[in-house]
Amino acid sequence: MSVNKEIKRVTTHILQEMKQRGEKIAMLTAYDYSMATILDDAGLDVLLVGDSASNVMAGHETTLPITLDQMIYHAQGVVRGANRAFVVVDLPFGSYQGNSKEALNSAIRIMKESGAHGVKLEGGSEVCESIQRIITAGIPVMGHLGLTPQSIYKFGTYTVRAKDEEEANKLKADILALQDAGCFAVVLEKIPAKLANEVTKSVNIPTIGIGAGADCDGQVLVVNDMIGLTKGFKPRFLRQYINLYDGILGAAKAYIDDVKGNDFPNEKEQY
Ligand code: KIV
Repeated sequence: MSVNKEIKRVTTHILQEMKQRGEKIAMLTAYDYSMATILDDAGLDVLLVGDSASNVMAGHETTLPITLDQMIYHAQGVVRGANRAFVVVDLPFGSYQGNSKEALNSAIRIMKESGAHGVKLEGGSEVCESIQRIITAGIPVMGHLGLTPQSIYKFGTYTVRAKDEEEANKLKADILALQDAGCFAVVLEKIPAKLANEVTKSVNIPTIGIGAGADCDGQVLVVNDMIGLTKGFKPRFLRQYINLYDGILGAAKAYIDDVKGNDFPNEKEQY
């Protein structure tokens, strides 16, 4: 299917219409200006400034250490590079949990200082008060259920969530709560495809899956993973479209050879 480049800027309303007519939503993460320009040019509908920046950009083991200031810095570059895509920014760990006033202040800082178009936060019914407060200020909110990496120390592992009935039932109730609270879309991370299919049908807002099967209304991947920059990370749900790790490694080695062999710069590459 071709990308509709007539759209000047993707909006929450357009994403809603895409669900209604069965057109899949393509979302990837982005953390900087250069990558955002390429992804926007390709026609991505949504760019997510994910707190996975903590892992792939900063090298942390979890998403917990990244700060609000750092998320805003990443978001500023992405917003400058995105002409068409809807840009969503993750509220980082500690910037919204348990305090709806703080959640609102964090969301306002992201919108004001980066120019992003919406925010995302993790959790179900327990974060609905924060979601409502943020939406009351006119800020679109995307939810995130299933594997929520900010709770990694509660889960203890990154394996598939909601396999048992109790957790699946909570997820089914949570997605309805997020819809009622006013979320414009919900990410479903690492849950059984059958459950994702069921909850996608149970709501009017789009679901965006990562490791949640083909029946979600859209898909998201961490861009560094799908372009093969993250060496050795190959979960089952990941499709790697290019191996940039080996490509860049080869280029860097060739450059070293050229410099050390006195082959770079040549006569045409100097003044
Ligand atoms: O931070 C992130 O990259 C995310 C995606 C995995 C959905 O939240």
